[in-house]
Amino acid sequence: MEQKVLFKVHMPKSVDKPLLEVLHSGFIGQGKKVDEFEERLGEYFGNKKVLTLNSGTSGLHLALRLANVGHGDEVITTAMTCTATNMPILAAGAKIVWADVDPMTGLIDPKAIEKKITSKTKAIMMVHFGGIPCDIDAINTIAKKHNLKTIEDGAHAIGSEYNGLKIGNHSDFIMFSLQAIKHFTTVDGGLLLCKDQSDYERGKLLRWYGIDRDAKRKEFRCEEDIIEYGYKYHMNDISATIGIEQLKYIDEIVSKHIDNQEYYDQKLQRIKGISVIKKPEVSKSSSWLYTMHIEKRDLFSTWMSEQGVMTSRVHERNDKHTAFSDSMCSLPNVERFNNTQVSIPVGWWITDEDREYIVNKIQEFSDKFMKI
Ligand SMILES: Cc1ncc(COP(=O)(O)O)c(C=O)c1O
Repeated sequence: MEQKVLFKVHMPKSVDKPLLEVLHSGFIGQGKKVDEFEERLGEYFGNKKVLTLNSGTSGLHLALRLANVGHGDEVITTAMTCTATNMPILAAGAKIVWADVDPMTGLIDPKAIEKKITSKTKAIMMVHFGGIPCDIDAINTIAKKHNLKTIEDGAHAIGSEYNGLKIGNHSDFIMFSLQAIKHFTTVDGGLLLCKDQSDYERGKLLRWYGIDRDAKRKEFRCEEDIIEYGYKYHMNDISATIGIEQLKYIDEIVSKHIDNQEYYDQKLQRIKGISVIKKPEVSKSSSWLYTMHIEKRDLFSTWMSEQGVMTSRVHERNDKHTAFSDSMCSLPNVERFNNTQVSIPVGWWITDEDREYIVNKIQEFSDKFMKI
């Protein structure tokens, strides 16, 4: 029996032809394909201020730079995420300040954020864990009151919605990851969407050494002045070509994730020992993960693996790592969330038969081990 996996690379055959064409076109750097991909992404998100990049991590680093976060500043963030959310804060020279999460959803708690604000706070990072949007309005209201910038880590949340608008429209900066196992991929890649035109224009320069690629030049060489240093974070035409093709499938991919999520929501709530995460009413999750809570979680994971179903906690709480030890503090709700959370396969590759099998196996586990 083939294992039912948590992640799968989405790579349609229709990518092959355009990919080979661009590969042998004589131009593979950042060019027309990147422009075209950005144009299409702008239409998809309903926000034209899209920067394509070489990774989501680069996107977060760039967002922090655009928010003018630097040495001595503090950034409030969550420990319940991929380390990629928080490494860029250290790379920017700033201090990480952990805020606790909601114990059920694992999402950063606005009330906990407000308690952590000091005169050094410059920005707030929120992560839409598994695809479920954070309480964006509450967080942005707090940020506005204290004159702070907000960054959304939407690595899991392409296609999610909040208050009737796609994620990508609500905060100062929104990052998406196009890494191999996300809803759709450009092999590696990332997106940074901006709210302000000025941030977008500055970001366009900083993703490529601070050089204006649109400047009219007499020859190849860059003669115009570079105002401030930048990075090598741009996307190339190879990745963009894959992205243009992949984008044609995104609605179909997301709707399959959501359909499986709704099935699980309905079936699992009846099973003893399982707590289903209730999604906030104002939002729609594109369900990159289907996370639930279960007692005896580690036993559950081993048992499910024996039944051919992969499960995982996916992310380790970041505050445990030595690299983040300067920020150590008590996070009781991270502890609660992390003790029982586990994700089961939910993606576009999970068929009706697969999900029925998975639910039956969870029921079997509950009958066997959850009697008391
Ligand atoms: C929550 C989160 N943030 C950031 C990233 C980083 O994205 P990338 O791998 O594209 O740099 C990831 C990647 O898996 C992630 O899961």
